[in-house]
Amino acid sequence: HIEGDVGDPAQVIGPVPRRLFGSFVEHMGRSVYTGIYEPGHSTADDRGFRGDVLELVRELGPTVLRYPGGNFVSGYRWEDGVGPAETRPVRLDPAWHSVESNRFGLHEFAAWAEAAGAEVMYAVNLGTRGVQEAADVLEYCNHAGGTELSERRRANGADRPFGFKLWCLGNEMDGPWQIGHKTAEEYGRLAAETARLMRMIDPDVELVVAGSSHADMPTFGSWERTVLRHTAELADHISLHAYYQELHGDTDSYLASAAALDRYITTTAGVIDETLAELGLDKTIGISVDEWNVWDLRRWNEVDQAKLAEGGWRQHPRIIEDTYTVTDAVVVGSLLSSLLRNVDRVTMANQAQLVNVIAPIRSEPGGPAWRQTTFHPFRQVAALAGGASLRLAVEGERLRTAQHGEVDLVDAAATVEDGGRGAVFLTNRATASPTEVRIRLRGARFGVYAAETLTTPDGETRHAVNTADAQPVRPVPLPGAVATSDPGGTTITVTLPPLSW
Ligand code: AHR
Repeated sequence: HIEGDVGDPAQVIGPVPRRLFGSFVEHMGRSVYTGIYEPGHSTADDRGFRGDVLELVRELGPTVLRYPGGNFVSGYRWEDGVGPAETRPVRLDPAWHSVESNRFGLHEFAAWAEAAGAEVMYAVNLGTRGVQEAADVLEYCNHAGGTELSERRRANGADRPFGFKLWCLGNEMDGPWQIGHKTAEEYGRLAAETARLMRMIDPDVELVVAGSSHADMPTFGSWERTVLRHTAELADHISLHAYYQELHGDTDSYLASAAALDRYITTTAGVIDETLAELGLDKTIGISVDEWNVWDLRRWNEVDQAKLAEGGWRQHPRIIEDTYTVTDAVVVGSLLSSLLRNVDRVTMANQAQLVNVIAPIRSEPGGPAWRQTTFHPFRQVAALAGGASLRLAVEGERLRTAQHGEVDLVDAAATVEDGGRGAVFLTNRATASPTEVRIRLRGARFGVYAAETLTTPDGETRHAVNTADAQPVRPVPLPGAVATSDPGGTTITVTLPPLSW
């Protein structure tokens, strides 16, 4: 039994930021090359942008795109990716043991993001570089003209400034795997000085300082506290990265991943509040969940990394091209619900990544592009969630899990728009049986406009996947959802198939 009150403003968690539906394009594997960019592909335009991929990206609907990394950015020189493509240097990318041609760079990405209809979130290198280079790339991008850097941009074809508003100050600097990894003290100082100079150049930028790479980092909590002590006056957001996977066949814990994300967000929010109070600062700092997804990290650690090393230095090798199952898509759906439940603290989020690399969209060089299973929940939430996120009370069966304790068997989130449109997002974590749900929405009369579900297709298992040849996993109509209204509100009843979004 799920209950919400549409008529009571106190039951609104907060407005749903459009930036919640962001994604991520890193120079990694085949995300850029043979992903979004492939000159010579039958669908490519004269800029080399793949038309088939772009069409799927538009359908998916990401609102913000983080670029150019990820771990890649911590060894990247942004200047390598501007100017005539033929003269750009070919470099080693140590983060992903690859060769970077730099054929695709800043201008190409700005044009591609515009074509995709999304805002750019640009990350600066605070691994091998520092304050000056961050200031330089900002001046290059956002200053109108009349200086060496801004005139260089104009000469390179962008007469008007790009006007990027969102800037990430480094990536996962808490991780020992990061190029130029730092202690919280070192990073906090560097981020503060970088932020100070960036604001002098463009006071309108929004700055994201790097938080923890995952909730199990030994420094989680103390990292945020130290970094914020240095940067709180200057930062608008602090990041959090979160990837989930099924371990040792423990499906129940995997299906409960959203509870872990809820907790991770709440704990981060607590540290933000505590540090702001300690500093006596009357402001808010948002949480930017700027990398989240499901990712089989064990395969990466045990198989892919060795393959990468054996293959030697190559351009755009295949890296972490995870093929997602129905189960993965159901978990992705519930992670989106977690983001919706936390809009009072989460100001933006980026699913990592967009194409080929742990992505909702896959493409083959010279071949087709297709929707992975995880494409669907993202597309649905980006299209349907709007207005305000509603506080829900869930009462019913609980699922006991080894990793995340007890969680609701049905995970829920709901949004309501002023015009009267609403959406309820439900995940049935019961793997063997359907679950009947009664949703009581007080204070408004609703009808059921449409009900859809993503679940195991007939004759398949929970491991069903979409491939280039066949995409059996997709939303289908969910029959039997019925709304009945009375003077107090609406009650919707629906039966959710086992393991379904
Ligand atoms: O998204 C893949 C990688 O995961 C990113 O480069 C890094 O930031 C994270 O560890």
